[in-house]
Amino acid sequence: MIKIITVIGARPQIIKASAISRAIRNSFASEIQEIIVHTGQHYDETMSKVFFEELNVPKEDFNLQVGSGSHAVQTAHMMIKLEEIFLTEKPHAILLYGDTNSTLAAAVAAAKLHIPIIHVEGGVRSFNKKFPEEINRLICDHLSTLIFVPTLSGIENMRNEGFKIDRKSQLTSDTPGVYHCGDIMYDNSLFFGEAAERKIHWLNNLNVKANEFALLTMHRPSNVDDSRVLEELLKAFVRISDEQNLPFVFPVHPRTLKIIESKISLQTRTALSKSKIRVIPPVSFVEMTLLEKKANIIFTDSGGVQKEAYYFKKPCVILLEETPWQELVESGSALLVGTSPEKIMNAYSYLSGKKDLQFPPLFGDGKASEFICDRILEIVRV
Ligand code: UD1
Ligand code: UDP
Repeated sequence: MIKIITVIGARPQIIKASAISRAIRNSFASEIQEIIVHTGQHYDETMSKVFFEELNVPKEDFNLQVGSGSHAVQTAHMMIKLEEIFLTEKPHAILLYGDTNSTLAAAVAAAKLHIPIIHVEGGVRSFNKKFPEEINRLICDHLSTLIFVPTLSGIENMRNEGFKIDRKSQLTSDTPGVYHCGDIMYDNSLFFGEAAERKIHWLNNLNVKANEFALLTMHRPSNVDDSRVLEELLKAFVRISDEQNLPFVFPVHPRTLKIIESKISLQTRTALSKSKIRVIPPVSFVEMTLLEKKANIIFTDSGGVQKEAYYFKKPCVILLEETPWQELVESGSALLVGTSPEKIMNAYSYLSGKKDLQFPPLFGDGKASEFICDRILEIVRV
């Protein structure tokens, strides 16, 4: 039996953890003991608890209750508390997901204690260190002993950074194992797709009909922290909705909500409330999956949501200048538009008129979680 500590903290990490926890429960329960540590980076019920319940993630063994703060304060508080837990629990390895401050804190704390790190969603790069995620994922990859890469472009990135791919033995953080495995989020979207379909009546509550609305999410600091940028974005979406007579569903991240409530002009907030844009609190993963499956088009700056658009064969307008999921753009089904209202409108016109979008498989076969658990056992087994 090997003992692994999974560290999660932000919404997408709870969702990602559900895929591996499900694989452990179904196929590896007698071989892998998983201890879950929640840093408390996300703490609202709609950003945390709802995912544990709906996705059947085992309740966390520890909650560090770190909460919000500047990057340094948040990361430092996490590191102090994580170090204590790592020293007491003495795990064989630490399992980390993605690129948040929770990932960074756990990676640095574990590396200094010489505990092997397993990084799921490694190799992904946006090549823009202005984004905190790029710093977090670079550091985590370079401290890890096992790196699971969802895409072939990620494997190429790792090769370019000097990593050897598919090394089989004598793995350490200086000579790590790097494996192409597919995306555990694709596993999840396939797994929860049916549950989403069964909830189709929920669309009535939003007063929208399947295939007759757009889905919108925004939470990147570069889009929402500067209220002038956010104001222009909101105005652009009101205009598209009005001109196209197109309802939008906009589940709002708490970061974005705070700026809308405190810094957006009354005029724009009034226009928003009079428009066909349904501004709603964050939704559960199954509800989000339903929205993604039934939307005509998706506008987002979320890493996860842009991939899910692709899984469900939906055109996607990415509200960023670059994406770590460049293959989506290369496929022709997603366009990078940044924050320019004009580019957003043009992208909408172009993608909504396009009937021959292609979605070749890029994210594996829906069994990335099993592959990852198998590999972990092969390598970490004592
Ligand atoms: C974090 C991750 C980002 C990820 C996102 C997923 C980092 C650096 N960023 O960004 O990579 O895409 O999570 O959603 O780790 N807040 C609440 N309630 C909550 C959580 C947050 O009100 O439960 C508010 C607070 O005002 C907080 C702000 O949202 O200051 C931002 O939260 P934070 O976790 O720092 O960053 P995210 O933007 O959520
Ligand atoms: N998500 C959700 N409810 C919402 C918004 C997003 O369940 O109201 C899911 C979404 O389907 C995806 C993940 O959260 O699986 C993405 O998280 P987020 O956009 O917060 O972060 P990112 O992926 O950009 O790091």
